[in-house]
Amino acid sequence: MNIAIIGSGYVGLVTGTCFAEVGHHVICVDNDDAKVAQLQAGKIPIYEPGLEDLIRKNVQLHRLTFTNSIGAGVAQSPVIFIAVPTPPQHDGSVDLSYVETVARQIAGHLKDYRVIVDKSTVPVKTGEKVAETIRRYARAGVEFDVVSNPEFLREGSAVEDLMKPDRIVFGVNSERAQALMQAVYAPFNAPIMVTDLNSAELIKHASNSFLALKISYINAVAAICEASGADVEKVAAGMGADKRIGRQFLNAGLGYGGSCFPKDISAFIKISEELGYDFHLLREVENINANQPERFLKKLRDKLWVLKDKHIGQLGLTFKGNTDDIRMSVGIRIAEQILKEGATLSAYDPKGAEKCNQQHPHLPTVNDPYAVAKDAEALLIVTEWSEFKNLDWVKIRGLMRTPLVFDGRNLLDPAEMNSLGFEYHSIGR
Ligand code: UDX
Repeated sequence: MNIAIIGSGYVGLVTGTCFAEVGHHVICVDNDDAKVAQLQAGKIPIYEPGLEDLIRKNVQLHRLTFTNSIGAGVAQSPVIFIAVPTPPQHDGSVDLSYVETVARQIAGHLKDYRVIVDKSTVPVKTGEKVAETIRRYARAGVEFDVVSNPEFLREGSAVEDLMKPDRIVFGVNSERAQALMQAVYAPFNAPIMVTDLNSAELIKHASNSFLALKISYINAVAAICEASGADVEKVAAGMGADKRIGRQFLNAGLGYGGSCFPKDISAFIKISEELGYDFHLLREVENINANQPERFLKKLRDKLWVLKDKHIGQLGLTFKGNTDDIRMSVGIRIAEQILKEGATLSAYDPKGAEKCNQQHPHLPTVNDPYAVAKDAEALLIVTEWSEFKNLDWVKIRGLMRTPLVFDGRNLLDPAEMNSLGFEYHSIGR
């Protein structure tokens, strides 16, 4: 099938590439001419495991093309996905202007029946607005359907999440649209859940908020573990063994960051408020999350007394492992705060240093994990890169001025670290 994807950002690019991989002919559209030229030249603007090879392969097979023309995408494709950004606004709501603009642009090119699929994460009832907008701007009598098809991709494993999804959700209002959506997703052999438009949109916000709630919940439990001498890892394992709860997303640490959770939770609170419900529970999820870095820094201050003129090493800058994304990263927040308190800092990240240097040039980065340990009076682990587990910790011990380690992601084993001569602090253990 011919498919158009409007917006070649993170979601659009991964989705388009995976659709091509299963045999569809995909035209990825973006209004950023430089990005389109880059993609046409085979350069990939993001780091995502496995993506580059798939793009190269499918471009060679002529199943994946890039253009700046929405008209070309609409003309060739019975199904058109909208995958443009929905950035956060100051009041917690999301900016839907990109979605609205694309809806108008699609409307201007509509001639025959098309299914317009919203892939961007949007508040409930956005699909209705998209349909209204297209109806208003399209020529009279032209037929179309709007579908909501939320994405559940995790950065760092987006290709795998898309190729082998737990479930595919689409909210549709017509059998005609449903049949086309089923054809798009048939090659994935995954469970398909068909709902109405509003329910599909809510599934996305409710899922991400629930995952964030799990994280904040275990972080609250970690505080109780610290106060009582219990071990949060054991508590999480015991809880997670109950199938109704599950062990995933019960990793205590510095809390969630990234471009999705913080934005989606505040957007869900905001749309709930607009619909007349005060989602107090989620406000508390946000509060707990916002306090995690400060609780961590307090442990550091408790040991070093004053941070001014101390030298701190930091492992990790990205918002989680296996990505180069530093958006809403706890690592950046902690680095900023350490410098603000007058300490000197040296930070290392396997993939995030380049973006950090571009966007936060005042944060000192190095490209060797051992260089951050040199003469450090404390070493902080702030991102869950598995690479950090496999470092030569004996060597690190020898490089540090005072062997204090603060592990914000519970990556290392406390007994082992103590036996290597470190004073080791982590979260809830
Ligand atoms: C998330 C959702 O998982 C995905 O389904 C959605 O479509 C987009 O948002 P992503 O933001 O890529 O994906 O990362 P995810 O793996 O969910 O982690 C989010 C944050 O939570 C990271 O900062 C991570 O460090 C943190 N986290 C995750 C924890 O602190 N503890 C955990 O147990 C799990």
